Amino acid sequence: MKIDDQLEPTVFIIFGGAGDLTWRKLVPALFDLSQDRSMPANFSVIAVDHIDLSDEKLRRRLHDGVKKFSRKGMVKNSQWDEFAGHIHYQQGDFNKLHTYMAMGEQCTKMEKQWGTKVHRIFYMATTPSMFGEIAEHLGKAGLAKDQKLARIVVEKPIGYDLESATALNTALAANFDESQIFRIDHYLGKETVQNILAFRFANPLFEPIWNRRYVDCVTITAAETVGVEYRGSYYDHAGALRDMVQNHLMQLLCLVAMEPMVSFDANEIRNKKVDVLHAVRPIHHDEVYQCAVRGQYGRASASNKILGYREEDGVAPNSNTETFAALRLFVDNWRWQGVPFYLRTGKRLTWQVSEVCIQFRAVPHQSFPFEASLGWQPSRLVMSIQPDEGIVLSFQAKYPGPKMQLWPVDMRFNYRESFAISSPDAYETLLWDVMKNDSTLFMRVDQVEAAWRLLMPVLEMWKATPSNDFPNYASGTWGPEATQGLLVQKEHCWPLPTELKQSSHNVLSTVASKKTK
Ligand code: BG6
Repeated sequence: MKIDDQLEPTVFIIFGGAGDLTWRKLVPALFDLSQDRSMPANFSVIAVDHIDLSDEKLRRRLHDGVKKFSRKGMVKNSQWDEFAGHIHYQQGDFNKLHTYMAMGEQCTKMEKQWGTKVHRIFYMATTPSMFGEIAEHLGKAGLAKDQKLARIVVEKPIGYDLESATALNTALAANFDESQIFRIDHYLGKETVQNILAFRFANPLFEPIWNRRYVDCVTITAAETVGVEYRGSYYDHAGALRDMVQNHLMQLLCLVAMEPMVSFDANEIRNKKVDVLHAVRPIHHDEVYQCAVRGQYGRASASNKILGYREEDGVAPNSNTETFAALRLFVDNWRWQGVPFYLRTGKRLTWQVSEVCIQFRAVPHQSFPFEASLGWQPSRLVMSIQPDEGIVLSFQAKYPGPKMQLWPVDMRFNYRESFAISSPDAYETLLWDVMKNDSTLFMRVDQVEAAWRLLMPVLEMWKATPSNDFPNYASGTWGPEATQGLLVQKEHCWPLPTELKQSSHNVLSTVASKKTK
């Protein structure tokens, strides 16, 4: 196995080691890192869970996960066998101190074997209700106290609302220093999300126009075609606002709106991100229905085989949970005063697409003849997070011919075409960063709580006034009609991704339709 010489000997202890996240994401990511020379020479993965399993049985199960989810595609048995030798199973009850004492003994054994101190990464891949208790037991067992060597990784959701998030953060802080706590939002591990900082701050071209003088509105979309899949019972207690907006969309908002960082220091970047959340204009309870729209998907048609949300496994037949959420926010600072930020996310929408669209203002004076500019469209910069990874800049050009006619065209950057290597999965990046003790891509306590604070009035109002029109959008559409009502100007729109994917704009038909008016 190839190794990363800079990484120190590490033991990963995964709580929930027999669970879905370990199988689907964590072990495939660790395996891929090992194949890319990005694991330490000495490492061990201890999967802890309550069920009765042998090392062999667990390894077989994890092998299956790696075959399905590894970025490397075909996995040779020899590669797997070498990696699998590092994996061990420990049966244990998370509520009992002796489970943790046994882990401590395992770590001491490794230290003796490797002749050096080991880094201990405690990964919470259990149900969120266990996070606080596990942290407390780790503290009691003395496993948390070495601030250099011990780290805890906590998966989202961090709490269910502001109160529970604060309670969890307090439980974590009672046993770990903030520098030891790594709160995962997997969006931050995506290459295209990290590229927002590179694009904005490594190029002198865009930053001067990245403000209210030139930007008309910003739209942040995370649209999925899938429904709630096998997670109905979790989702029905969460909903789109908690599941996607509080974390992933808020992270994107911070990266797009933050001020330039002075250095690439983790806290410097996180300070700048928190500043954005502090500047977001609070939504008061009586403004919720002007600033936020919720939706829930039904069948595409009565005879369609794809189930409506209320028919999904684990979902209450009269559920009031939203599977779509759209918000209009304003960032009250010098840079962004008056620029609307539209956020939307939903399940069972028309296409899968996550993107940030910056729409620029019109020129201050239109000097072209009226006829020439009939096809005019606002200039837009679209940072496409997934599935197409890249950036598209749409602007006006002269259409070839004797007449002056403006025509929107695109300039594109595509990750796949520009770089001959595949992007790592977000979990690979994040796990590597935890091993390196780099918390830049992780959520700090104040950021998590600031995001909850902003959304609480919306959550409270939606809870207090159940929707009387759910389901209010059909699967395969762009969500409820009412979303249009959030747009403050007629020139603003929720961009439709296919328009951006097409290599040319359908201007002639636009011109034609305008001419006939
Ligand atoms: C998760 C949500 O955090 O993100 C899921 O819980 C959602 O509901 C998923 O489907 C989307 O992530 P990705 O990386 O598949 O876009």
